[in-house]
Amino acid sequence: MQPTNPFRPTFGVSPTILAGRDSLLESFKLGLAEGPGSPFRALLISGARGMGKTVMLNEFEDAAAEQGWVKVRVYPDETMVHTLTNSTLPQAIQDQSGPSSKRILSGVSIPGVGQITAVANPDHSQPAPTLISRLRELAALLRGVGILITLDELQSADISQLHELATAVQDLLRDDVDIALVAAGLPEGIDRLLQHEGTTFIRRAERIHLGEVNHNDAVAMFRETTTAGGRLIDEQAAHLAAQISVGYPYSMQLTGSLAWARATLDKTDRIAVTQVEAVRGEVIRRMGMQVHEPSLHSVPDGELTILYAIAELSQDGAMVATGDIAALMNVKPNALSVQRRQLLRRGLLTVPKYGYLNFVLPYMREHLLNNPQHRPI
Ligand SMILES: Nc1ncnc2c1ncn2[C@@H]1O[C@H](COP(=O)(O)OP(=O)(O)O)[C@@H](O)[C@H]1O
Ligand SMILES: [Mg+2]
Repeated sequence: MQPTNPFRPTFGVSPTILAGRDSLLESFKLGLAEGPGSPFRALLISGARGMGKTVMLNEFEDAAAEQGWVKVRVYPDETMVHTLTNSTLPQAIQDQSGPSSKRILSGVSIPGVGQITAVANPDHSQPAPTLISRLRELAALLRGVGILITLDELQSADISQLHELATAVQDLLRDDVDIALVAAGLPEGIDRLLQHEGTTFIRRAERIHLGEVNHNDAVAMFRETTTAGGRLIDEQAAHLAAQISVGYPYSMQLTGSLAWARATLDKTDRIAVTQVEAVRGEVIRRMGMQVHEPSLHSVPDGELTILYAIAELSQDGAMVATGDIAALMNVKPNALSVQRRQLLRRGLLTVPKYGYLNFVLPYMREHLLNNPQHRPI
């Protein structure tokens, strides 16, 4: 029987071995144990698509659970606060109260649990529960542990809902309640969100930008993941795999997974340079399908033209001068400023140095050059 592939090239799914995020995880654990005064009680994780934001939220949740904390996941839609107040938190309160508890919630229905009957308080003059009152109710049941609230895809959050959530968390923190809020999203979306009034608390949150995993951490990840799966990888092959995936977690999983599959076809339990080299093209194609295509989906022609110009001008992925792009497009450099700003905001381009531009996502250049049919005329 073949050993199972231990690599996980799937968005939102935690890897077998987490590469290069140890110190961040350690800071987070310390922050939980530190108490409500820790700056790590309000965290904002930003990073490009596939950089490992959702995985980091999962890791934080696990770390919190290990310390006995209650974790609450919220979804950034227009019913976020309502769902929290009337279903997620009542469920958490119920779980804490235990089956033998006398505590009964005021008539709420919890998906999968059914209707919880309203008998707790016959005094109907009692005000309807709010997000803050629910959180306080939950906090009061916890002894020496706290509440972790996580929010993914922050860039899609509704401003007023987010404001309400942030206000509630801030309110509890002010009263020294053990609570933490961690949100994750795309950098450009977060920046746009923070420009709104009413996001002050979030603006003050500790910002963590998830960057590339360094080469040695990536090499170790390839080695440890392969071993965990019951095979071996040659040292040189692990280095090549790290090189191909350029520190980008999604392409790390992709490269590992494909090299593993290649080894299966080659009937070997030892991944060598041959297997890794053989999948390089497929890594780039898959990145195109899973990462580049979706992120180029809604980009208008004016911006696509700039991306193609950069792809054409860049030597082996090196940054390109804005002046050269303008010259290639036969326009004055300042004629590009609107599109340039949009592309930066979309997280597709960065400014590595004043007057220069480059792609954020690895293999975007190759993807564009391999797909000239998408080029606007
Ligand atoms: N630190 C890491 N080490 C190894 N693989 C990782 C790491 N972080 C994420 N991954 C992998 O990268 C992919 C993308 O992770 P995900 O958290 O979904 O990214 P994002 O939410 O930023 O788009 C998944 O396949 C995941 O298993
Ligand atoms: Mg994600």
